[in-house]
Amino acid sequence: MEFKIRAAAKEDCEEIFRMIMELAVFENMPDQVKISHRELENHGFGPNPLFECLVAEVPQEEKSKEGNGIGKGLLSKVAEVAKTQQCARLQLSVLDWNTPSRDFYSAKGAQDLTVSEGWHLIRFDGENLDNLAKEAPKDGR
Ligand SMILES: CC(C)(COP(=O)(O)OP(=O)(O)OC[C@H]1O[C@@H](n2cnc3c(N)ncnc32)[C@H](O)[C@@H]1OP(=O)(O)O)[C@@H](O)C(=O)NCCC(=O)NCCS
Repeated sequence: MEFKIRAAAKEDCEEIFRMIMELAVFENMPDQVKISHRELENHGFGPNPLFECLVAEVPQEEKSKEGNGIGKGLLSKVAEVAKTQQCARLQLSVLDWNTPSRDFYSAKGAQDLTVSEGWHLIRFDGENLDNLAKEAPKDGR
């Protein structure tokens, strides 16, 4: 199947937001999406971009299908960008019950560090992040 992978543009943010929501619904946590498409535009396409993004341009009739090479194409392209930028590794977060994705990454050669090294994913957000920031030393101390 013909598809093209390219760097995202500001005009893609509405569609990127829709896909973030679609993935969050699939992962049973739509309430955890806090960003809007306007914030994606500002954070990704201003003077100091906070993220980079790739999009796949796919014929309309193929859009809802899995197993047509798009996931692998996107993952490989991210790896190519990472290598170009001298990155030593590509790291992903995947839910424990998402066996098809875990198997997909594994089939492409990824190690599951939770299994092999026992890492936990640690996060500060909301009030906990606010509290931690308030405790930062002032005047360099
Ligand atoms: C997992 C996902 C990204 C894979 O993308 P895809 O477009 O369906 O997969 P592709 O067609 O690109 O797969 C290409 C290759 O991966 C292999 N593959 C795909 N799914 C696989 C699986 N579950 N287990 C093992 N191999 C798999 C294919 O056999 C193919 O192998 P080849 O390169 O040797 O021919 C896709 O199914 C998806 O979007 N799932 C739902 C959302 C999701 O869970 N995203 C990831 C969140 S962490």
